[in-house]
Amino acid sequence: MKHAQDVKQWKIGLLGLGTVGRGVVEILGERSAILAARAGVDIRVARVFDRSWRKKQDVLGDIPASDNADDVLNDPELDVVVELIGGLEPAHDFVRRALESGKNVVTANKALLARHGNTLLPLARKHQVSVGFEAAVAGALPVIRNMRRSFVSDDVSAIHAILNGTSNFILTRMEEDGMDYAEALKLAQDRGFAEADPTFDVGGFDAGQKLAILAALAFDTAIAEDAVIVEGIETIRHKDLSFAAAMNRVIRPLAIARKFPDGRISLRVHAAMLPADHALAAVQDEKNAVMIDTSNSGPAMIMGLGAGARPTAAAVISDLVFLAGRESGQSQIWLSGFDQPNPVTEFEYRFYLRFQTVDRPGVLSEISRILAGEQISIASVHQYEGAEPIDLVVVTHTVDEAALKRALDSIAKLESILAAPIWIRMKEEHQSGEGDSGSSVLPGADGRG
Ligand code: HSE
Repeated sequence: MKHAQDVKQWKIGLLGLGTVGRGVVEILGERSAILAARAGVDIRVARVFDRSWRKKQDVLGDIPASDNADDVLNDPELDVVVELIGGLEPAHDFVRRALESGKNVVTANKALLARHGNTLLPLARKHQVSVGFEAAVAGALPVIRNMRRSFVSDDVSAIHAILNGTSNFILTRMEEDGMDYAEALKLAQDRGFAEADPTFDVGGFDAGQKLAILAALAFDTAIAEDAVIVEGIETIRHKDLSFAAAMNRVIRPLAIARKFPDGRISLRVHAAMLPADHALAAVQDEKNAVMIDTSNSGPAMIMGLGAGARPTAAAVISDLVFLAGRESGQSQIWLSGFDQPNPVTEFEYRFYLRFQTVDRPGVLSEISRILAGEQISIASVHQYEGAEPIDLVVVTHTVDEAALKRALDSIAKLESILAAPIWIRMKEEHQSGEGDSGSSVLPGADGRG
């Protein structure tokens, strides 16, 4: 892998050092070597505009900062301007000027795109630069790039999405914890993914802007913010969620874009009661999800964290690496390194075991003796009576996978065992960020089994 100092620099001018801007600076610093290898250039924050930059020296370090945006916008050395100010003005003016001076722009600003995307995107094209806005819709979820690239040969017929984390969080907490609306909103605000003005979230406007952007990409139309019909979730109370549960349904804040066979389009944001086994019913708390119906690929769903400083910063950086990689001529699909992987081979799981045995005294004790010999602790045992071979089901506590395999090899050789033992790893509820239920024996390693 090449080191950052060996490769050309690609210079960022950063407008706005709020929580997302801080995340961008931090991640670029933490991951500079791998990002340089993946992009083919060293992506550096070269200049920052922030009105209160003096209070942010901890994150700035030696990056030059100023409270005058011209210092960024007039710097001819910059390759890209990252706009993380939010809101319409002055962000609009800054982005327009950056594009006119031939700089690429990356922005997380959905309000800006929903309102001015129809002029900014052609302006970028005129000046032969790009606008990256992966972070503007559903934070870390890679929906923009998928919509533009992966589904490029498809006709999208519908998008069913959860695009506002705050609304989803409120409804989920009301449903699961019996919280009232105000309490759940307060918690969402404390967790940092709610907008400064919560009306923007719970009134459906945030989701409406995101949907307008998505739909334009999906249906090859202009961004039609005004065409989105928006209803909020403010009137939903705990009893509505209870009544929904009694009908085996859940309430989720949906954003729906549909294209009808006659070419007309509907764009709507509203709460909806979904069957409890609907894929979007499993999307809880601040998570977002985008389900895309297409002509060739069938429905596909992306789900994950759609808000918050680090997920949004990660989406900004994905645009930066894409643009930098494109200019350096390095495809991101290319591997960045050729070191041998260092695979984890030791895992721990709870196991379901099924033995097909004769129905005779002593069988269970033979099996349990071998398991005990490998320090495998039994959680439960069940024998299903019937014609031989009978099924003897054993569930273990969390045990070492290699020890279990050794025990099974020994058990398989017993005369009383009539077929190869069946083993199935038991998955616990997925914990976000933990990769898998199977825990690796090695600290810090991914436990995918
Ligand atoms: N406030 C938004 C949400 C996150 O709750 O999903 C930023 O788009």
